[in-house]
Amino acid sequence: MSIVISSVKEMHRLSSELKRANNKIGFVPTMGYLHEGHISLIRASKRKSDATVVSIFVNPIQFAPNEDFNKYPRDFNRDKKMLQSEGVDAIFYPSSSEIYPENFQTYVTVEKISQILEGTFRPAHFKGVTTIVNILFNCVKPDIVFFGQKDAQQAAIIKQMIADLKMDIEISIEPIVREQDGLAMSSRNIYLNEKERRDALVLYNSLCLAEKLINSGERNKERIVTEMQLIINSVESSKIDYIEIVEQTTFSISNTLERGKSYYVLVACWIGTTRLIDNILVTI
Ligand code: PAF
Repeated sequence: MSIVISSVKEMHRLSSELKRANNKIGFVPTMGYLHEGHISLIRASKRKSDATVVSIFVNPIQFAPNEDFNKYPRDFNRDKKMLQSEGVDAIFYPSSSEIYPENFQTYVTVEKISQILEGTFRPAHFKGVTTIVNILFNCVKPDIVFFGQKDAQQAAIIKQMIADLKMDIEISIEPIVREQDGLAMSSRNIYLNEKERRDALVLYNSLCLAEKLINSGERNKERIVTEMQLIINSVESSKIDYIEIVEQTTFSISNTLERGKSYYVLVACWIGTTRLIDNILVTI
């Protein structure tokens, strides 16, 4: 039985109790509407810790006013069943007023790395993410936390924050889980209609082409990006926000790829009215 906790005080009490009994606490923060991607994080936590806590909180401050906070899919009963069948120890499911009471005024920002790529298109997003992740870490007191490679920039930012703020927390970044045809799992895939769902494959196809080009010796970023654009622009419903290649750990943008290094090829793209992101990691 997974216990459901909605108050911060109760969460503090449970975490302290688990720690007193020498349990290593694994934590998977989510916004709910769980899919196989989340389940893979939960399974990793079950393998690497003694007690797994999963939070479900659709964080209002990481959405801009014109974004999809109100329509973001929510189904707590479905999520709870999934978490129970995975044998999660506790589900932290606080209300918005529990997290952000009226006089709330403290925010956490990771500077440089939050300002590029996603940060250019969603300027307040990462400040919202790092603030809520800090709050959740303070509530759950995890020893190890699990994030998906799907949000590679988010994971790199959290890693930076953990290091900068000297948090005694290990971070594990787990590989992307894909549908059979290659589309990266995302709670937002539910917004796609049948045609858009087919069109959305251009993201993965463009990443596969990039990987193929790199593996066959292409080192020039512009040429790789141009080939990817051709694939994505072949469907009318698409509109590219960015395609970029960054070094894996620093997220520095590279025009020429160097031997011995690993890079994320990243894409953010609209399919109709749905914004999708995806990436692959390549080592040269
Ligand atoms: O990746 C997400 O689902 C969210 O950004 C997170 C980390 C749960 C913070 O709200």
